Amino acid sequence: MASRSCLLHLGALTMFSFVAIVISAPLDPNFYDKVCPQALPAIKRVVFEAVRQEKRMGASLLRLHFHDCFVNGCDGSILLDSTSRFTSEKFSLANNNSARGFEVVDRIKWEVDRVCGRPVVSCADILAVAARDSVVALGGPGWKVELGRKDSTTASITTADADIPAPFMNLRQLIDNFRKQNLDVKDLVVLSGGHTLGFSQCRAFRTHIYNDTNIDLAFARQLQAICPRVGGDSNLAPLDPTPANFDSKYFSYLTANKGLLQSDQALFSGGETDALVKEYSSDHDDFAEDFAKSMIKMGNIKPLTGNQGQIRSNCRRAN
Ligand code: HEM
Ligand SMILES: *[C@@H]1O[C@H](CO)[C@@H](O)[C@H](O)[C@H]1NC(C)=O
Ligand SMILES: *[C@@H]1O[C@H](CO)[C@@H](O)[C@H](O)[C@H]1NC(C)=O
Repeated sequence: MASRSCLLHLGALTMFSFVAIVISAPLDPNFYDKVCPQALPAIKRVVFEAVRQEKRMGASLLRLHFHDCFVNGCDGSILLDSTSRFTSEKFSLANNNSARGFEVVDRIKWEVDRVCGRPVVSCADILAVAARDSVVALGGPGWKVELGRKDSTTASITTADADIPAPFMNLRQLIDNFRKQNLDVKDLVVLSGGHTLGFSQCRAFRTHIYNDTNIDLAFARQLQAICPRVGGDSNLAPLDPTPANFDSKYFSYLTANKGLLQSDQALFSGGETDALVKEYSSDHDDFAEDFAKSMIKMGNIKPLTGNQGQIRSNCRRAN
């Protein structure tokens, strides 16, 4: 990161009679170049194969990185299974029966550790690289993923419930939610463009298609056929008309009042983000370029680096 120019920052934390030194370092796109140059190509191979088998997997992997970063930083905490000390974030409101792709992450981890000969790549970095490779596999932009994150030894379902945004949020709540992560209004709009990929379950968009007025009537009717008033909670609808293509149709659909989630349509409902939605709906390259920038910014949320954290040998549990 340009804002962190020196190589190492040393902070001394004094506790009673002993001193723990925390060494942190900025993330670096070339972090694995020396220690394991085969790591990134290996991740890409497994992601491309998984997306070839099922396009939606690209969407699911992108979302995992987002849900990892929003909960105490990009530290692989979402991948940890429950222990006697904590409940897995996989059971949080946003993730339970929803977050997917964990088996693909296991496969990536196994393959990367195999080609590197030992566990040198963190699970948090695997999520960041898999998110980028997924976007590329579905026709989106590439970017240099900054690397060197370490993995947490703990997870927090409480923080996951508090900090992962809900589909029922209005624009004010969404802006505040992103600001808590040091992400601005532009980051909110452009990263919501991640919904150019993948699907949502009925339970997340039911209120919007039955009770809201900021929705195209024919579009609402069409969705009501998929998502009944009662039952069918996990029935799927695409988040935009082309859920396997990274394009700007998510934004053009918002301008036509065809956002699937309340949180999607909130970005184009007469508020301060309308102009940006319009801009991205008409300029795919601008969207792609800004998406890449904001993904790097999101990937830099509170990483553990240096001697903080660990490199897990199994992404599902601390060493
Ligand atoms: C702005 C606040 C956001 C809210 C409220 C939100 C909410 C949701 C919800 C409710 C779903 C459907 C989950 C389900 O029904 O199982 C979903 C899916 C998805 N979200 Fe978001 N999301 C937000 C931002 C983002 C961001 C920033 C990204 C990535 C950059 C993202 C990527 C995705 C993807 C790719 C899917 C489809 C996943 C799949 O098909 O497996 N979302 N989101
Ligand atoms: C998660 O989903 C399972 C299966 O549907 C359900 O039994 C469980 O109560 C849910 N857990 C939480 C914490 O909501
Ligand atoms: C719609 O709003 C009514 C009145 O507030 C509420 O009782 C009902 O549960 C809502 N329906 C859905 C599908 O959200």
